[in-house]
Amino acid sequence: MNRIAPIKAEPRRSVDEITASRRLRRMRKADWSRRLVQENRLTVDDLIWPIFLVEGENVRQEIPAMPGVFRLSVDVAVREAERAARLGIPALATFPNVDMALRDQTGSAILDENNLINRGTRAIKAAVPEIGIITDAALDPFTSHGHDGILRDGIIVNDETVDQVAAGAVLQAAAGSDIIAPSDMMDGRIGAIRDALDAAGFPDVAIMSYATKFASAFYGPYREAIGTKGLLKGDKKTYYIDPANTDEAIRETEQDILEGADMVMVKPGLPYLDICHRLKETFALPTFAYQVSGEYTMIEAAAANGWIDGERAMLESLLAFKRAGCDGILTYFAPRVAELLQK
Ligand code: PBG
Repeated sequence: MNRIAPIKAEPRRSVDEITASRRLRRMRKADWSRRLVQENRLTVDDLIWPIFLVEGENVRQEIPAMPGVFRLSVDVAVREAERAARLGIPALATFPNVDMALRDQTGSAILDENNLINRGTRAIKAAVPEIGIITDAALDPFTSHGHDGILRDGIIVNDETVDQVAAGAVLQAAAGSDIIAPSDMMDGRIGAIRDALDAAGFPDVAIMSYATKFASAFYGPYREAIGTKGLLKGDKKTYYIDPANTDEAIRETEQDILEGADMVMVKPGLPYLDICHRLKETFALPTFAYQVSGEYTMIEAAAANGWIDGERAMLESLLAFKRAGCDGILTYFAPRVAELLQK
């Protein structure tokens, strides 16, 4: 007979002997008790809604790689801002899809006080002054090569880029932006923007640093949204952080805080929760995560195929940021979540 003998179950200790009568399932037994012991909660106050702007009037353009997200002309963006305010969403982050004809080697259109992003800010602030506006002072929507910096002889030149970004940030503040969120990862940009804002009479405009922005594959759909996908040659590894590095992320963040960042952000989000947690533990600053386009798209695509429950995955992914220590999340799900939470 070659059957394996059954493992003898007895004698063994009882479960109460094993756990010393500690049973963690006691508090999980009912909805009321689970609610009572729930440690983290997602609320509408945690949400920042990134929106895409495009020229025109009454335009609502689909973005194929981001089902459910649209490029909005400024007038439509104003209506969406009104909706966001009614839902209680604290702030919007705007990203422009700039006319190709206006993009050039140095991203000079960031220095146009009436560029798309600044017109968006003015219009939204005029109609919905109670909602916060966060603007990205970065060159990538404005450059003909899709990089976040000025490109000379194949090199992204740091200091010249910083001057341009700081000047652009002042124009964004003048248009009514409440928070400047520079996403380009140039060295010295936070201090330069702080100096420029203060010198221009905007001491109350805050800076949210994209302190740790990783050279990530998850930005793909965003590049389609703002039209940099076909332009970008090469990668952004000379300015974004290597996804392998944690200590470097800490040093980047420390530097940005010393230069004057009021809040810090981790980007992408879910694959970098360890960074979120470590930043909050280390610096105790308002800490945000950007659930980026690729993260949004993965959930949407799987849900569209019926492979996951999209609504539950959305809520769980956002709650994970709270558990990791984030104060809030930039997410394309913001209006959908806000509507759900209102119910
Ligand atoms: C670049 C920028 C990026 C995103 C916002 N601003 C990344 C990139 O194109 O390299 C990504 C946002 C997203 O993926 O949702 N300054």
